[in-house]
Amino acid sequence: MKRTINKPVSRIVMIDPASPSTSVVREATRVLRQGGLVAFPTETVYGLGARALDPEAVTRIFTAKGRPANHPLIAHVLGVSDASALAARWSSLADELASRFWPGPLTLVVERAVGIPSVISGGASTVALRAPAHPVARALIAALGEPIAAPSANRYQSISPTQASHVASSLGSNVDMILDGGRSLCGIESTVVDLTGERPRILRHGAIPIGSIRTVVDVEIATGPVASNSSRVSPGMDARHYAPKTKLVLVDRRDLIADMCLAEGGSVGVILCGVADRSFEASRVVELPADSELYARELFATLHDLDARGLKAVIVEAPPNDESWLAVRDRLVRAQA
Ligand code: TXA
Ligand code: MG
Repeated sequence: MKRTINKPVSRIVMIDPASPSTSVVREATRVLRQGGLVAFPTETVYGLGARALDPEAVTRIFTAKGRPANHPLIAHVLGVSDASALAARWSSLADELASRFWPGPLTLVVERAVGIPSVISGGASTVALRAPAHPVARALIAALGEPIAAPSANRYQSISPTQASHVASSLGSNVDMILDGGRSLCGIESTVVDLTGERPRILRHGAIPIGSIRTVVDVEIATGPVASNSSRVSPGMDARHYAPKTKLVLVDRRDLIADMCLAEGGSVGVILCGVADRSFEASRVVELPADSELYARELFATLHDLDARGLKAVIVEAPPNDESWLAVRDRLVRAQA
């Protein structure tokens, strides 16, 4: 079996998302079949993939990321028929959500079928399933003919990758092959919905807003983790997450930015939500769009970029406090923790 750790460099191979090269995909499946790790683009962020049904390969993902073994992974499939084969029970609600949002950035947590290795679930009795929309991800799953386990392709608790270079700088030689299919379109991770309780529960806000999920679900949707004595907690939702190395400060009021910049001696990056008059001194100022979906697209790439500049702090103007911004705000709050 191929070793995946401590090799000098990982291979980055270009692949055209509009028409993924069959020979590159075949080579990637060869790496996966040998138990190796392949990073690949999805529409949300890049994933670090391994054969989901091979416990040894899945274990290697945890090692490569430095992620605790009780933080469960998402199994990526082509659609409902593959998904329901991994589930002990596939409800009509699962069916409705999948038919509305798959392929796409929605992850469904369901009871795990007997025979599916528990290592993917971090020991829990459930499994998270997602059918990605990205053509490279789909080509890879189809060619392998099996589900692919894939967390975001970054070191534990650091910023998720939205392009191949982010994967290379975060995981380096811990990954055997990186498929470079350009930028991830959504820029933030999938929305995770737990269907194992009495009511559907959003465990992680993500690329599909809660308002869109409500159009399919006719009961009230719960949000956030459940009480920690329950089996329905979602490990992997640590307070600190998506964290840059540089100190990140979230400010609620635009007029406080100038003081923050002064306090850090001007060696700061500032991320604004929308355009602004600049009454402050900063090394770099980025205006992200005042639209939550467009903002999300740029957020992680902006954090990666600012983090590489050796600044004393990154000051982020908090986006509006309304529902459409939940996913973005969640990531900013965790990045600051
Ligand atoms: O967009 C995405 O979801 C990306 C791409 C690669 O698909 N993947 C991703 O994986 O973000 P990861 O491992 O970084 O985050 C998975 C999230 C975590 O919050 C984890 O706790 C939750 O899904 N999760 C996975 N399996 C679960 C389970 N069985 N029960 C509860 N939560 C689960
Ligand atoms: Mg992650």
